[in-house]
Amino acid sequence: MGVVGRLLGLGPVLLSGVIILCLLVAFSIPALAPIAPFIGIILPVIFLGVLAWRRAYPAAVGWLRGRVGGESFWNAALPDLKVIKVVTTDKGLARLHPMAGKVVLLEDRAGNGYACKVLRIADVVNSYETTTEEERLLLLDRMAKAIEGLGDVEAKLVIDRSPDTGESAHIILWSRIIDGDEKAAVHSVESAAKTLQRSMDRIGITMVDDMTYLSPSVSLRAATIPGRRAHGLALAISSIGTAASSAMCLGPGAGPLPIILLASGVLGLMVSQKLLKASSRATCRECLGRPHVHISLGGAEAYQVEPGGILKEYHRGYVVYSRYLAFTGNHNRDLSHDDIERRLPMSLKSFSALLYTLTDFRIALHIKPQPIGDTVRIALAKADFYGMDAQVGGALSGYYKAGRSMNLADRIMRGERPYLISGVVQVRARVNGQYMDEARALDLLDKQLREAASFLDTMNISTREVRDGWGAVLANRFLYLPLQETALEYNPIPRIRALTRDFIAISPLAFRRRPLMPKEGLYLGRDEMGRPVYLNPSLLPNPHVLILGPPGKGKSTLVKTMLFRLEQLAKYTGTGRPPAVLIIDPAGEYADKAEDLRAKGLKVTVIDLVKSKYNPLLLAGLEPRQRAARLVDYIFANIMPLDRYQAGVLFQAIMLAYKKLGGIDEYNPETWTDDRAAKATFKHIYDYIAWRAEQAAKAIAAKGGSPELDPAVTLLTELARMLTPLAIGSFALDRTDITIDQLIREGGIVIVSFKTRTVEGMQVRMSDELQKLMVWSILEHIHSYMTSLHAEEGVRLIVVIDEGHKFLQGRYETIPLGQHLREGRKFGASYIIVTHLPKDLPPDIERIVGTIFIFGFGHPGEARRVAELLNLTEEEYEKIMSMKTGELYVKWIEDPRPLYFVFEPDEKALVRRREERLWQLYRMQ
Ligand SMILES: Nc1ncnc2c1ncn2[C@@H]1O[C@H](COP(=O)(O)OP(=O)(O)OP(=O)(O)O)[C@@H](O)[C@H]1O
Ligand SMILES: [Mg+2]
Repeated sequence: MGVVGRLLGLGPVLLSGVIILCLLVAFSIPALAPIAPFIGIILPVIFLGVLAWRRAYPAAVGWLRGRVGGESFWNAALPDLKVIKVVTTDKGLARLHPMAGKVVLLEDRAGNGYACKVLRIADVVNSYETTTEEERLLLLDRMAKAIEGLGDVEAKLVIDRSPDTGESAHIILWSRIIDGDEKAAVHSVESAAKTLQRSMDRIGITMVDDMTYLSPSVSLRAATIPGRRAHGLALAISSIGTAASSAMCLGPGAGPLPIILLASGVLGLMVSQKLLKASSRATCRECLGRPHVHISLGGAEAYQVEPGGILKEYHRGYVVYSRYLAFTGNHNRDLSHDDIERRLPMSLKSFSALLYTLTDFRIALHIKPQPIGDTVRIALAKADFYGMDAQVGGALSGYYKAGRSMNLADRIMRGERPYLISGVVQVRARVNGQYMDEARALDLLDKQLREAASFLDTMNISTREVRDGWGAVLANRFLYLPLQETALEYNPIPRIRALTRDFIAISPLAFRRRPLMPKEGLYLGRDEMGRPVYLNPSLLPNPHVLILGPPGKGKSTLVKTMLFRLEQLAKYTGTGRPPAVLIIDPAGEYADKAEDLRAKGLKVTVIDLVKSKYNPLLLAGLEPRQRAARLVDYIFANIMPLDRYQAGVLFQAIMLAYKKLGGIDEYNPETWTDDRAAKATFKHIYDYIAWRAEQAAKAIAAKGGSPELDPAVTLLTELARMLTPLAIGSFALDRTDITIDQLIREGGIVIVSFKTRTVEGMQVRMSDELQKLMVWSILEHIHSYMTSLHAEEGVRLIVVIDEGHKFLQGRYETIPLGQHLREGRKFGASYIIVTHLPKDLPPDIERIVGTIFIFGFGHPGEARRVAELLNLTEEEYEKIMSMKTGELYVKWIEDPRPLYFVFEPDEKALVRRREERLWQLYRMQ
């Protein structure tokens, strides 16, 4: 029966079934009898008309409408290329991934077609700044030249951005297979890929083999073809109708007609059964012939083409709608070099505006270099010709045309390159069932398409909207495959469609590349594309962190969030435990979080320096003389206006205290212990200096002199006065309650807070000098302690200095914080420095930290300063001025590009609002 069906063709069988049915109906109703012959003609004509309308799409579109698997798409998209093969060219790579090191061959029966390969642009390896215009120009130029050097191999550039996969850029390379010589084509496409990789590598762009772009479907999947199934069903129904009605008419005297009808009904039923069976399987005619591989485009499960140029794609459970814009060349070639130069910033701006506007799109450019010499020669000849024409005939348009040709020649002679460029922009919308339905998706597509068209228009690139189903199929094919028209066409006279600069804005390098930052670690938030941002001091070459931002922008919240997520760093310390943290917390705001942190399973120790006295005289691993010298030179000289004599006295006093009180012998290392050093305190030093001042005054008075006028006495008295706050009053340093060893050995999180002290109901603040002394001596001790340990990779201790503006500035620029940072790294110390303004910092700190976080700065001058630190572009500078709490830039020392991201604070890290607190108080009563 199948043979009969094939012989008759399905159409005629179906048609005859319908005609018979119509005739039957018409004849069985007496009133219709007179018009029966007309019905027999008109209905089939209408039917044929409908079929013809459907044929307005290529036959394959009928299948596509019905969710046919990817392989059918290939058959439809490449009607001329029937054989798709994958050949392995690099066994080593192939072991890494099923599609790596492979070339796809697309061939027709005569052995013509293409060898095709895909490379992906991986992260930019070297530290290239890719957003300044000059750099972009340079990079695009280099890339264009690289493509130019590929010989007969052509290239297509596809830039993709979607919310779920982020940005990517691919280059599809292909070489023609001529006369069935597959080997030659494979060889040339492979060597072109290597050349391209090498030359892009030189400008800091890594390109990797990525054939997954054309993902192979492992086997021929069963796919139904509802179009055919519908035909089969229609035929079955009409056949049953025919058979049944004719069976009723059977009988003596009915004549031969019912018998014929019955037979045709049965015949139709059998054909329909074959048809239905056949429609349950996708048909690839080649499956019966040569062995070959089926490939689906872009990993979609199925495509469906809608009228109006909409492609519906089924992908991982959701539906993606796409619409297309196409363009070939542009009008920029009319402009002169200088015009272009002037327009360039605008084009780049409008393109980056387009990138902000569209979130889900793909741009493909087919770049085919044109011969330079010929192009210039022809352009000059044309200019001559039109110029003469204008002079002789006086046609004004001649001048215009001559000018245009001159511009062209001029631009090429100035180093621009002529290309034949065609492109497709695909905008997509994903229906996920939640807040995006089909109607909204189509609406969005429409809007985005118009937006994209108008942006490209401002760049002088005129686009054409794809409005029909077949156009959409071809446009989609353009994104994956060599475009047949341009690839096969050979035009000996160059048609210049574009010059290098015309397309500069839409090069992949125009995309904001994601800086080279840790891909795992402590979770901070998400960037604009929704990709996670991590901090991981252990993985960075330099673990130090600087956090800048005006008050109230969330700096401390950021640090607190880090504490709450500290566990996420446990993997990287080598001990399986999170690194120890020591926090300098002058406002006591971290101490407030101690309970919440403990609830997270972290070990937290809060040390209140008002209650537990800390002794700056501890040796912490240094020799007594060194400690005394560093205390005097780095710390005291920075806090108080010491002159040389006073510094000398202070040094002597410290050494004396070590010796007399602690029994520390300068020449015997056995005695250099903190147990001994702890016995000397500032109370003693103050007492000693005050005693010396008194003695000196007495001596002068004994000689009949006047002590007030004696410079030495004055200096001593003054020194004693300056030291008074360290020795007298509630903050006096008269005991040693904790040592640095205890602080660090403690492990977990140690919060050093120095809240105010209440005296008779009044809040008494620790003086600024005392605060500085405390913080600096703790930092000094941490430093000498850490550096006395053995060197270690990885982060052992994180030191947080919040409210840096209070401590980081000394009287002189001799705060050794820079030294701490530089040397601490090797011993596993990581510093997190938090402050408001760059000028709060000791010199050069911003240059030696590995990571800089900067919150929004509304002040133009300050914003300018931090823009310099972050290497912001003009646009980013404007952005940083209007950034809200929680939005920030982060920059890694290794990468000149910063990354904008929105920080996701831990719930517990946020300061509870006042009202909430009041509410709590209210509930407590
Ligand atoms: N991402 C955020 N979302 C919502 N609120 C936030 C966010 N970050 C911080 N806050 C809130 O903003 C306020 C100020 O935050 P925070 O104390 O961290 O600022 P700061 O930059 O450390 O200020 P200062 O320099 O004065 O110490 C707090 O009430 C905090 O809860
Ligand atoms: Mg703060």
